[in-house]
Amino acid sequence: MKEITVKASKTYRVQIGAGLLCAAGEKLRELFPTPRRVMVVSDDTVRALWGDRLIASLEAAGYTVYEFVFPHGEASKTAGTIVSLWEALAKANLTRTDFVAALGGGVVGDMAGFAAATFLRGIPFVQFPTTLLAMVDSSVGGKTGADLAIGKNLIGAFHQPSAVFCDTDTLGTLPTPIFADGCAEVIKYGYINDPTLLTMLQKPFADTPEEIIARCVSDKRDLVEADERDTGARQLLNLGHTAGHAVEALSNFSISHGSAVAIGMLVMAKAAVSAGLCEADLPAHMESMLKAYHLPTACPYGAEALAKAALSDKKRKGGSITLVLPDKIGSSRLYPLAADALAAFFAGGL
Ligand code: NAD
Ligand code: GLY
Repeated sequence: MKEITVKASKTYRVQIGAGLLCAAGEKLRELFPTPRRVMVVSDDTVRALWGDRLIASLEAAGYTVYEFVFPHGEASKTAGTIVSLWEALAKANLTRTDFVAALGGGVVGDMAGFAAATFLRGIPFVQFPTTLLAMVDSSVGGKTGADLAIGKNLIGAFHQPSAVFCDTDTLGTLPTPIFADGCAEVIKYGYINDPTLLTMLQKPFADTPEEIIARCVSDKRDLVEADERDTGARQLLNLGHTAGHAVEALSNFSISHGSAVAIGMLVMAKAAVSAGLCEADLPAHMESMLKAYHLPTACPYGAEALAKAALSDKKRKGGSITLVLPDKIGSSRLYPLAADALAAFFAGGL
């Protein structure tokens, strides 16, 4: 078992290891002495696979458990689902001393967290991430929210969890493409600022899953502690996401988020080299790493289309956009660029 403490506006522990869903009830009693009410929020897939384990553990520890389950997938990440969840919390009479338990991937965690942030002006929540992406990224750092038809994650709140339990057993049921999506985010931490992680990733993930997840969580912890509200260093987590979101949108979301981030990271690496801002050996290193984790590397779109899609994303600030550019293997930086120079910049990465 690995454990990392995050000291943000709230201090909390992230525990990583096998069997944590079964141990969670007992472990939570220190934070939330029983009796308390718990709303377990999950999607239908994860509920069927892993829900019984968590609920049995919570009930055995003395909690009164309620459930809210919605259909899996990004299409459920809506204001409508949030309203239904608020109503379920109200019907179950949860108070500010009770808590929400998010069991699932990033969709579940973001929505359960947002409902917890806003119900009764804020009640506690605990994350039980069950995808690799959710373990290494979305369950840590307190970004919560839902999508609007016009764009992803346009509503939300910063609300840090009270605890995070990454039960690595749950990775055993993840479909291969969803695991690969998480690998793109894992690799991303290496190129942001963690060359040691890149060395660890030369060996198969399955050799040291806890170590790799813990390393990513600790990398994210450092950025969240430095910049919880995402106005500076935390934006480094967007490596590959400017071009990646454009690829996702242009494909009508037929290219998954992780695949798009992989493509986007390589576009940025090559563009940075073309602009004289990155060491020349980095793109080949990154390409072989992405391929080793079964991620795509070829960008199917042209520079103009990518720039147009990227500039409609919410990260644009007035006439400029902040890019994340690698400068050498294991190091990246923020780089503001005029919006009208973006297409030419992307052209150097294709
Ligand atoms: P997801 O939650 O939709 O999960 C992907 C699929 O995997 C779902 O169909 C789910 O049912 C299934 N699944 C989950 N765990 C499983 C398991 N153990 N076994 C079998 N199937 C399982 O998607 P995701 O990739 O985990 O997260 C993506 C979401 O996270 C997006 O909405 C994104 O905006 C958000 N996100 C948030 C942050 C943040 O900081 N809050 C960061 C990154 C991404
Ligand atoms: N995944 C981006 C962030 O947490 O800031």
